[in-house]
Amino acid sequence: MTVLQCKNIVKNYSQGPQLVEVLRNVNLELQPSEHIAIVGASGSGKSTLLNVLGGLDKPDSGDVEILGEHFSRLSDNKRGKIRNASLGFVYQFHHLLPEFTALENTAMPLLIAGIKKSVALDKARSALEHIGLAERVAHKPAELSGGERQRVAIARALVNNPACVLMDEPTGNLDSKNARAIQALMKSLSEEIATSFIVVTHDEHLAKSMDVTYHLDDGMLSRA
Ligand SMILES: Nc1ncnc2c1ncn2[C@@H]1O[C@H](COP(=O)(O)OP(=O)(O)OP(=O)(O)O)[C@@H](O)[C@H]1O
Ligand SMILES: [Mg+2]
Repeated sequence: MTVLQCKNIVKNYSQGPQLVEVLRNVNLELQPSEHIAIVGASGSGKSTLLNVLGGLDKPDSGDVEILGEHFSRLSDNKRGKIRNASLGFVYQFHHLLPEFTALENTAMPLLIAGIKKSVALDKARSALEHIGLAERVAHKPAELSGGERQRVAIARALVNNPACVLMDEPTGNLDSKNARAIQALMKSLSEEIATSFIVVTHDEHLAKSMDVTYHLDDGMLSRA
């Protein structure tokens, strides 16, 4: 089954009297275990597209389907449930909660889904062990390096085994050594688990490691 599909997505922002046309007609289909990169100039609408695909923002027109559900037409409540169960997010800036530890941050999607705290923390611990952060579970974000924070964000995105993970510049704020470590981690994870990835990136190395690259240009997405 197609994991995620969008058809004729249009998204504009109004800025005072001015209309900013960001997405003009975006079509995309993502299959199970497929890994795609989206590249494009700064301001071309990559984050906007990920937000629309992930249901964090509504398109002005067009349709997003996740695992056969018409995402854009659902109530906020139903959409939130699907998002929590089927999607993982790694944001452009990690968005870890500063007052919580790496372990609690990682467990957050499970706790939000109503899973018992002891079970959620166990799963979070094994996700962190899996990505080499067993020794850092009790650290808060301010007590982690940039690369470690980004790894925690990836653990959090994967902790509930989502069908699809949306990543916005997962290596964007990292030096090249840490960026390559994150890339290697994503590669090994993708060999072990059947999750699909959509990765927005300026990082050519990372884009090349995906199955397909798409360009977002003038509000339209095309295969590179
Ligand atoms: N809430 C908003 N109101 C008005 N304009 C917005 C809003 N959010 C984004 N924009 C505009 O929409 C365009 C696309 O923004 P977006 O954040 O999607 O770009 P991007 O491709 O992710 O850029 P970057 O590579 O710098 O992260 C930009 O021109 C931006 O100024
Ligand atoms: Mg962006």
